[in-house]
Amino acid sequence: MSESVIVSDDAGLRIIRMNRPEKKNALTQPMYAAMTAALQNAADNAAVRCVVLAGAPGAFCAGADIGEFLEAAERGGLRPKTQEFLHALARNNKPLVAAVGGLAVGIGTTMLFHCDHVVAASDATFVTPFARLGLIPEAASSLLAPLRMGHARAFALLVMGRPLSAAEAKDAGLVNTVVDAAAVEATALQAAREIAGLPPGAVTVARKLMRGRLDDVIAQIDTELAHFGERLQSAEARAAFSSFLARRK
Ligand code: COA
Repeated sequence: MSESVIVSDDAGLRIIRMNRPEKKNALTQPMYAAMTAALQNAADNAAVRCVVLAGAPGAFCAGADIGEFLEAAERGGLRPKTQEFLHALARNNKPLVAAVGGLAVGIGTTMLFHCDHVVAASDATFVTPFARLGLIPEAASSLLAPLRMGHARAFALLVMGRPLSAAEAKDAGLVNTVVDAAAVEATALQAAREIAGLPPGAVTVARKLMRGRLDDVIAQIDTELAHFGERLQSAEARAAFSSFLARRK
């Protein structure tokens, strides 16, 4: 397993930690594959009662790796491990808790729409600069974000790329609890232990009932990715990727 994702099990909890801090946890195809395996394997493991997604201090996830976007654009826009990850996220049958410290960019934010409980640091920022990169929303966020926060707020987030602070994300229904950065993981683990302590059969059925139609979510993921693949190859997207990769401080 890639060291850029660390998976550990502890007393009914599976912790999936994105661990590429030098790149602010920008996700690569091997990282998606490792996270997919960790989610899929949790589904068949009765000992796992709750899954926790965590990042590095100051960077939950800076979104997809933009270098890989450019490579994918040159190869024809296909990013198979991303699709497998998004399907695994949507199909995951274990309660999902996220501990968000610092930046949650792009898929770092949209993956949270699949979580059941989100704890954020008071200095966390949620931003999805899809349109600025010539891209469109993914992870079924074009379906789930308007349902969660209404069209107006979802449009400002997903299309206009306006950031949400932790307090705004809580107000929008994306985040449950905002705490000091130093307390994010402990608070998320406490919530995960609370969930893990409940009768698992009841939690599984209640969660499934609350999550709506899985087929619709999967279909939205696939439709978005078809557009996303086309957008990746557009001149405006390629120019945005090259500009990001060429920037120097
Ligand atoms: N893809 C590839 N590399 C990324 C990345 C990404 N999504 N996000 C950050 N990095 C890299 C930077 O290029 C930099 O690499 P370097 O040290 O080799 O130059 C390193 O991570 C640290 O990032 P840096 O930009 O120096 O940190 P920062 O705190 O000033 O800014 C971000 C952090 C996340 C705001 C900024 O890196 C950023 O805007 N990244 C792109 C986010 C994005 O658009 N993601 C895709 C959404 S669809």
